[in-house]
Amino acid sequence: MVDIYTKPGLYDAIHQNYSWDKDLIASIADRVGGPVLELAAGTGRLAELIIDLGLDYTGIDTSNEFLNIAIEKVGNRATFLQDDMRQFDLGQQFNFIFIGFNSFLHNLTDHDASRCLQSVHNHLTDVGTFLVSIFIPDLSFLYREDGKLYPATSHFNYDGGRCRIMETNEFDDVTQVNKLSWRLERNGELETTEYQHSMRMFYPHMMDILLSDAGLEIKEKLGDYDGSPMDEESGMQIYVCTKA
Ligand SMILES: C[S@@+](CC[C@H](N)C(=O)[O-])C[C@H]1O[C@@H](n2cnc3c(N)ncnc32)[C@H](O)[C@@H]1O
Repeated sequence: MVDIYTKPGLYDAIHQNYSWDKDLIASIADRVGGPVLELAAGTGRLAELIIDLGLDYTGIDTSNEFLNIAIEKVGNRATFLQDDMRQFDLGQQFNFIFIGFNSFLHNLTDHDASRCLQSVHNHLTDVGTFLVSIFIPDLSFLYREDGKLYPATSHFNYDGGRCRIMETNEFDDVTQVNKLSWRLERNGELETTEYQHSMRMFYPHMMDILLSDAGLEIKEKLGDYDGSPMDEESGMQIYVCTKA
């Protein structure tokens, strides 16, 4: 098993057209102002967006491999630190802190999620804004047929081939952790390497409790990056918060 977060080239190839979160994040950053902190910043997909607004940007991530690519992309126009979102102390406060693209789901326990949000609270200025964006657990996805491969992405170009990701998953309904195993299909042939990552499923009522317990007040609950409010049809849960 290979940790997907050691493979930045593959990750960037999969997400090369992923941009539907950019407008919302840029508009909030522009309104709130810097400095800006991104948790789980990855390969710097969103860093440039913030830098282009003329704001100071800091990104933290646990993956050295991903951070090296982020640094290659934006050089010294940003600060990237290897750090853990589950508990961090950067000795600085920020006007805008965000964690996008489901990365919050890498807090695999309530304890991790609480510590993460407490660290966010400690790093947020009194007038600051915090955004967290995750999908709403989809039961059909959690109770798939065991061992069956499902397409996880549309086709993308990678390493000279036409590829897509096929996945199996194992959902533990006690811990609410979904273990994903990805395999690359290249030009119709399935490769043997398995790439793994795990995500904790958080339902909206749990997010309400976790955010409130960390002293964060939800100002907006969105169900999509187009700014529409969260309702029973929503696939996403996006919280825009301030300090309570
Ligand atoms: C889905 S990727 C998102 C990357 C980037 N934010 C984006 O939007 O493209 C998840 C990221 O979370 C990072 N990550 C996982 N666990 C983490 C932790 N405990 N602390 C910080 N980063 C973590 C991974 O290394 C990876 O870069």
